[in-house]
Amino acid sequence: MKVVIGSDHGGFELKQILATHLKEKGFDVTDVGCYDTNSVDYPDIAEKACKLVTTGEACWGVLVCGTGIGISIAANKVSGIRCALVSNEYSAEMTKRHNNANMLAFGGRVTGPDLAKNILNAYINAEFEGGRHQNRIDKITALEG
Ligand code: RB5
Repeated sequence: MKVVIGSDHGGFELKQILATHLKEKGFDVTDVGCYDTNSVDYPDIAEKACKLVTTGEACWGVLVCGTGIGISIAANKVSGIRCALVSNEYSAEMTKRHNNANMLAFGGRVTGPDLAKNILNAYINAEFEGGRHQNRIDKITALEG
């Protein structure tokens, strides 16, 4: 399965760790940067990563910035993207089951690497439940105008 990952400088280290984790789990990972710790603007990274998801070139994606806040706000401006900022396994599981989130955001300065890998695993292992949750997602999509 194809997935995309990206970060700004604040999330670079965790992004590298999660990219390796995803590859070890057998995912085909496209890394849209950044590629070192030089300062970049997180909306630019969010835009690149989200484009791969909305065009179908990636099934879903992971974004990392310092807090996860800026990059998730940016991602959620893109039509068709449902980005969940996650800091625990329960939320990651539920955002797949109920929101069918297609982008996860992490705070590289907030969440440690082992916890982040467990959070990612919880998302990967969960299934979208559809039904009434699809109706609610349709209402979110209608808000995009
Ligand atoms: C960059 O210093 C920092 O502002 C960014 O990574 C992120 O935390 C913004 O929300």
